[in-house]
Amino acid sequence: MTIYVAKNYDEMSQKGAEIIAELLKAKPDAALGLATGGTPVGMYKELIEMNKKGEISFKEVSSYNLDEYYPIEKTNDQSYDYFMRDNLFNHVDIDIKNTHIPNGMAADCAAEGKAYDELVRATGGVDIQVLGIGGNGHIGFNEPCDVFDPITHQVTLDERTIKDNARFFNSIEEVPTQAITMGIGTIMTAKSILLLASGKGKAPIVKEMLLGKVTPQVPASILQFHKDVKIVLDEEAAAELLSEIE
Ligand code: PGA
Repeated sequence: MTIYVAKNYDEMSQKGAEIIAELLKAKPDAALGLATGGTPVGMYKELIEMNKKGEISFKEVSSYNLDEYYPIEKTNDQSYDYFMRDNLFNHVDIDIKNTHIPNGMAADCAAEGKAYDELVRATGGVDIQVLGIGGNGHIGFNEPCDVFDPITHQVTLDERTIKDNARFFNSIEEVPTQAITMGIGTIMTAKSILLLASGKGKAPIVKEMLLGKVTPQVPASILQFHKDVKIVLDEEAAAELLSEIE
């Protein structure tokens, strides 16, 4: 595991973009596992700039997003499908046919999850999986629970997640209470992981993820068992970790 501590959000975003750019230069047809939320937006902006300057191309790239609210239409501006088009896909040379996001209107979530896992499996494991981390330790929408969920599945969102995500909605009542998420097992098939975290609100859970015991109560703690993890933090998110180990 490699941990980078950047000065602030912008430097964290820059470092994350550099890691992805390096991969795309070495492997133009890479499979990218992508994430939504506030954290990766700056990194996507950097990647858009690099693409505009001709430094990287997404022409041969395929992408697989972690999760989607349920039920939600792709056209809803709160859907993660919309988010990805708005924050990345519409601004780079990716072929939208090669982008994949769990279907927020699936009639049968179990069948959707199985089909999604087969798609991800067909890549042989995505080359890099981008992750944020929830204040409760979730990755994707794998909320704290008693077991690590192996497969892509429907989930009821944790109260903490609903509260945290309310900032993107007009009111907390509008936040969806269900989602479809890649399972922990699906995430762990990634060849490499890039987790980004920013801000002092993430400091306690960052420390817990890296120094605490591996437990499904802190889903991100499973990353201690992955063989190729890069964690990019800004100073605020790294503060409690650093004060513990220094
Ligand atoms: P955030 O969400 O980037 O909006 O903080 C991270 C997450 O919930 O995984």
